[in-house]
Amino acid sequence: MNNFKYPDNFLWGVATAAYQIEGATCEDGRTPSIWDTFCHVPGAVLRGDTGDVACDHYHRWESDLDLLVDLGVNAYRFSVAWPRIMPDGGSIPNVQGLDFYDRLVDELLARGIIPMVTLYHWDLPQRLQDQGGWAERGTVSRFVDFARAVASRLGDRVPYWLTANEPFCATFLGYREGTLAPGVRDDSAALAAVHHLLLAHGRVVQALREDEVKGKVGITLNLTSVRSATQSAEDVAAANRLDLYENRMFLDPLFKGCYPPDVADCFGQSVDAGLIMDGDLATIATPIDFLGINYYERHAVMADLADPRHGWTRVPPVNPTISGIAVEPIGLEEVLQRVARDYTTIPLVITETGRALFDYVDPEGRVKDTERIDFLNTHIAAATRAMAGGVPLIGFFPWSLMDSFEWAWGYGHRFGLYYVDYLTQQRRPKDSAEWYKQWLTSVRARG
Ligand code: FCB
Repeated sequence: MNNFKYPDNFLWGVATAAYQIEGATCEDGRTPSIWDTFCHVPGAVLRGDTGDVACDHYHRWESDLDLLVDLGVNAYRFSVAWPRIMPDGGSIPNVQGLDFYDRLVDELLARGIIPMVTLYHWDLPQRLQDQGGWAERGTVSRFVDFARAVASRLGDRVPYWLTANEPFCATFLGYREGTLAPGVRDDSAALAAVHHLLLAHGRVVQALREDEVKGKVGITLNLTSVRSATQSAEDVAAANRLDLYENRMFLDPLFKGCYPPDVADCFGQSVDAGLIMDGDLATIATPIDFLGINYYERHAVMADLADPRHGWTRVPPVNPTISGIAVEPIGLEEVLQRVARDYTTIPLVITETGRALFDYVDPEGRVKDTERIDFLNTHIAAATRAMAGGVPLIGFFPWSLMDSFEWAWGYGHRFGLYYVDYLTQQRRPKDSAEWYKQWLTSVRARG
């Protein structure tokens, strides 16, 4: 496997997202997003951390792009902050916001790096949340206006577009569990949010094609590998419910044009028929050019009757990471195989995978993140095995270029290949950055 010949145009990248790195939340016309609001709710984010400054990437973006050159990646996935582009939450674009990403794309291309743009990485303008956010159908049209504005400015140079990042987190964690912004806990609102976000995705795919935007368009799902802890009927049913929640709820409408038949087993209600208008399901299933997959988790599941809202519990991992999950590279292979077997033959991209550690700079000035190197090594191997078995994988983007604001975990969880000292904003390559660099050199040397 070590000598696997990757296609010459394979995308070897790294990923980031706007709110996690940019800071400058009040500059150049930007208005608050749901994350600015959520961060200031006491207890919502660990230690009360906020993205107000984050990695100050808004001011340091040029030298951050030099880090990409130093790593030797040929692609970079980043997201565009909706509240920079549409500060009024409506449809009048803010030129200063567009200018920022325009320069970013130009400078990436000048460095020989392919941009992959995520349109929605969770930073919904607060003004839209004030009108109900994703639980309201009106947000769909606002998203189309935003996407069109971005694509009309960058579309001549961006070859890969992702409409949205992880609808599972944006809708179920944001509107059902309440652990991410906007912090709502309401099953009906969550199902409405799922439908509207998927519909918004489909509408944007259609809009970019109508506007003859050249790039390929896809969406990123976070998919998990789920199995039952035992063969008991209860555990098998629980695993099935979790699989619906995390995977089928998104894969089925996107690739089969319908919600899973057993939605009510999971939520005690179906997706309200009143929500689904004529043509919606066909719009959601508009063919896409590629699918982004974020992989972090593999679960063994047991029934949990004490928790009727879910009905499942995950078997605690033997050796959990600081995020409470196990490192299971085989799950990545399983997820890739399943998608390619059961859902679609379009190209797949691993748009995120990575490992959180409590990294620190040692007295010699090094960050020895051996576990992260092992994580990357074993996950690249798993992806490679899937490719050798015929899965059409075209790219691999570790999360993340640098440590950043990790949502409800704040800054404590570090995922970066570069260590960020948040007091000085100094970036420092961890051992994993050196490892990835050498890996990319060795891949290129295979010719
Ligand atoms: C994913 C998010 C990404 C990052 C990683 C650790 O769910 O898409 O922004 O925070 O988790």
